[in-house]
Amino acid sequence: MHPSGHYDVLIIGSGAAGLSLALRLAPQARIALISKAALREGATLYAQGGISVVLDKEDSLQSHVEDTLNAGAGLCDPAVVEYTVKHARRCIQWLIDQGVAFTRADGPDTGADYHLTREGGHSHRRVVHAADATGRAVETTLERRAREHPNITVFEYHLAVDLIREKALDSPRGGRCVGAYLLDLRDDNRVAVVSARCTVLATGGAGKVYLYTTNPDIASGDGIAMAWRAGCRVANMEFIQFHPTCLYHPKAKSFLITEAVRGEGGRLLLPDGSRFMDRFDPRGELAPRDIVARAIDHEMKRLGVECVYLDISHKPADFIRAHFPTIHNRCLELGIDITREPIPVVPAAHYLCGGVMTDLRGRTDIEGLYALGEMTFTGLHGANRMASNSLLECLVFAEAAAEDIAHRLEDFALPGPLPAWDESQVTDSDEEVVVAHNWDELRRFMWDYVGIVRTDKRLQRAMHRTELLKQEIDEYYGNFRVTRDLLELRNLVLIAELIIRSALLRKESRGLHYTLDYPAADLARTPHNTVLTPQHRPGRAQPG
Ligand code: FAD
Ligand code: SIN
Repeated sequence: MHPSGHYDVLIIGSGAAGLSLALRLAPQARIALISKAALREGATLYAQGGISVVLDKEDSLQSHVEDTLNAGAGLCDPAVVEYTVKHARRCIQWLIDQGVAFTRADGPDTGADYHLTREGGHSHRRVVHAADATGRAVETTLERRAREHPNITVFEYHLAVDLIREKALDSPRGGRCVGAYLLDLRDDNRVAVVSARCTVLATGGAGKVYLYTTNPDIASGDGIAMAWRAGCRVANMEFIQFHPTCLYHPKAKSFLITEAVRGEGGRLLLPDGSRFMDRFDPRGELAPRDIVARAIDHEMKRLGVECVYLDISHKPADFIRAHFPTIHNRCLELGIDITREPIPVVPAAHYLCGGVMTDLRGRTDIEGLYALGEMTFTGLHGANRMASNSLLECLVFAEAAAEDIAHRLEDFALPGPLPAWDESQVTDSDEEVVVAHNWDELRRFMWDYVGIVRTDKRLQRAMHRTELLKQEIDEYYGNFRVTRDLLELRNLVLIAELIIRSALLRKESRGLHYTLDYPAADLARTPHNTVLTPQHRPGRAQPG
């Protein structure tokens, strides 16, 4: 089925953010739910550790707020943190009502019905989970619900190319957002037009901009790039979270070893078997992620080794198999028995703390356009996201946006006919190798120059290369028919530019942004948030 047509709400992205919004709005609105891969494919499906929520009788909302603010290294917006923490319990209950089966309590009495695990930065056990495959439980449950709902029309394998804005006499950038162009990946790359009263971007993160990442292939920053091209501001793009423990194995692509392994007593070891985290932080293995990832990076460079090790084998084998079945099985397939031996691990790009600026209801700078989930900058995470606060942000902001959209839906008029995608000036590409080469080059220099430890010189080098690539890709985009690889590359090179520009603006080290040129935190010489504002550049197809 082709998505051409009119909907009340067009939701681009079907992870925790997009699916929960769709399900909350479906009783009142006709929804088109778009996913560029299979509906369930996205970061949500691979989430392991869990979702933070205060359920332990010894814990408090204030403590969750304080831990989040501490992890955020002074840049979180306290009002947003309080709002999110306050709504957590209700959102977890909503998931349970949808049918998500979280792991039940089995140990010491915490006052909670569900088992709570620990992760870095949390001062209490505060993470509900479904063993070590929380995301799968959430995603597949919500997917089933969405597929059953008569008001939700699902379009898989449709890649959103760009947003469409109405013409506005008083604004050269255009007025309200009225829909999007979608590339049908299963129908000879035909581009369809979908119009809607209201459009929501929920396209996830951008980990694919780095050579090594825990993220799935869909994470190419498409929503941020589309929103930027349409005229939205983005903020704090320099804060890339590197997860300390991605499995290091030639046959394992992007496989995470959850922080909950450290939460349940896992120890980080050097190749000689010695522990090292205590030299970097009194919290040891449970220090926030930025500290642990930098410590590992430091030790790997100091010793010239390719990985460090994470060891949980001192715990009973039954406990390990019960709490970490996915990791246990995957490692066993690769010849590593985690009940008996340590796991080789390295840091990898994991999460983007910055993104499209929204308010507490998910509204962006453009009328009729909302954004949710990992692609946003809400003010929750500051300079470093605390573990398991991301899925929470998806759920809480989806609930708030659903309420806001439901109230305003009648005010958003149904748009008139929109212009078709213009292919009159392009031909089929005769040099696909250019796209493949540029993907590789981009991800490699981002890893080498814009990674865990930065300098102005490295950032400038990366910027220079980004400008060259951008020119080449824009030219390619202007001359050839679009494909998935080309569109994702076009988005990724823009994401790289935004990350580097923000990193160059921050003349200090804070949270996830560490630069040898300015090793101390210093807000006197740097903006609180690095906000970037787009200049208008006309795209290929003009707003109707
Ligand atoms: P996603 O779940 O990534 O979904 C994005 C959707 O957008 C997909 O449907 C995709 O197809 C679609 N899409 C993208 N671009 C386009 C386009 N151009 N056109 C159409 N569709 C598009 N966080 C936690 O809080 N707890 C955890 O335990 C945890 N573990 C994690 C483990 C791993 C391995 C990873 C990678 C992340 C983890 N995170 C965790 C982070 C968290 O999973 C993500 O931040 C969160 O799932 C993002 O949800 P989302 O809905 O924003 O995006
Ligand atoms: C993990 O399980 O370690 C990931 C948790 C997160 O990213 O919040």
